Amino acid sequence: MIAHCKASNIIIPYLLQKFKGYFTIKAKEPMIATVTLNPALDKTIYLNNLLVHDANRIVRLEQDAGGKGVNASRVLKELGSETVALGFIGGATGSYIEHVLTREGIPTDFVHIKGVTRTNIAIQEVDGSPPTMLNEPGPEITDAELQELLAKVKSAASRSYAVLFGGSVTSGVPKDIYRTLIRTVRSEGALPVLDTDGQSLIEGLLEKPYMIKPNIDEAGRLVGTKLQSEAEVVNADRQLCDRGVYLVVISMGKDGAIAATNGECWFAMPPEVPVVSTIGSGDSMVAGILHTLANGGSLEEALRLGSAAGAATAMTNGAEIGKSADILRLIDQVTMRRIEM
Ligand SMILES: Nc1ncnc2c1ncn2[C@@H]1O[C@H](COP(=O)(O)OP(=O)(O)OP(=O)(O)O)[C@@H](O)[C@H]1O
Ligand SMILES: [Mg+2]
Repeated sequence: MIAHCKASNIIIPYLLQKFKGYFTIKAKEPMIATVTLNPALDKTIYLNNLLVHDANRIVRLEQDAGGKGVNASRVLKELGSETVALGFIGGATGSYIEHVLTREGIPTDFVHIKGVTRTNIAIQEVDGSPPTMLNEPGPEITDAELQELLAKVKSAASRSYAVLFGGSVTSGVPKDIYRTLIRTVRSEGALPVLDTDGQSLIEGLLEKPYMIKPNIDEAGRLVGTKLQSEAEVVNADRQLCDRGVYLVVISMGKDGAIAATNGECWFAMPPEVPVVSTIGSGDSMVAGILHTLANGGSLEEALRLGSAAGAATAMTNGAEIGKSADILRLIDQVTMRRIEM
């Protein structure tokens, strides 16, 4: 069983007796806050097949609120978890994201910045092959905006079971921002979770987050070798646990995921589903895992729900996330196997 807190007031009789005082530890509601430093308006352009250096006729165009934390909050809401979405937003694109979340009943506590939230473009070919992504870098953040975010994260962490940091870092924020944020979350007694890539992930790892969920390419870059076999992925899981991360989940798209702590390791294979767009599958997996753990579930149960949520999102258009009915239907179709460490 993974460490978790239950929503209740716990009075410790031992301390009461010893000190004849009155000690009440107010345990936290299992809320999961998400922080997206660089959210995006996601535009998905559907094409029959992409012709480079040529004119392409768009079959369909969709737009949605995007960003790893934003996606995870939407899945958490879908699963019935309490959540709040934090991060930086600005301009008309930022207002659109806030509007979408509010319309869906997801509480937000964004820092409103002077800059403009970026637009990301995904080119999706109809054969379901991985999309071609065109990602803007994101707006500049001022020091005052950064300080406002730190205060908001601290406040959310004090009320949360876990705080998920998702995605890339925008311009103007210090490169060790995730280290500072992870320390803040831990000091408030919540579990810091990091889902990012590249230098941000390397930096963040130094602060030993509770959980990371790199995909197989991101994990390969972290351990400095391309991961190809199951044994290599398990080995990478182990190496990352040895660096002080409690729970390491390496996802491999339709080929499943391997989750490990220092004492336990599980492989999950999702069912075959009609794939439309896998954007957000990883974020959905993180949401499913955290939802389970926050409610006292085991690592096996967490990876199973995470896999079902990832697969359900792969069945949806563009940046849309899986619906609860699909997630629930797919849970029993995930195949779980314990791996001896
Ligand atoms: N084509 C698919 N069919 C079934 N399940 C899938 C598919 N793609 C993803 N999943 C599920 O979602 C999980 C996470 O997917 P993936 O490894 O693609 O994450 P990711 O690369 O981090 O995604 P992103 O960061 O874009 O959200 C997988 O382990 C799997 O359970
Ligand atoms: Mg991912």
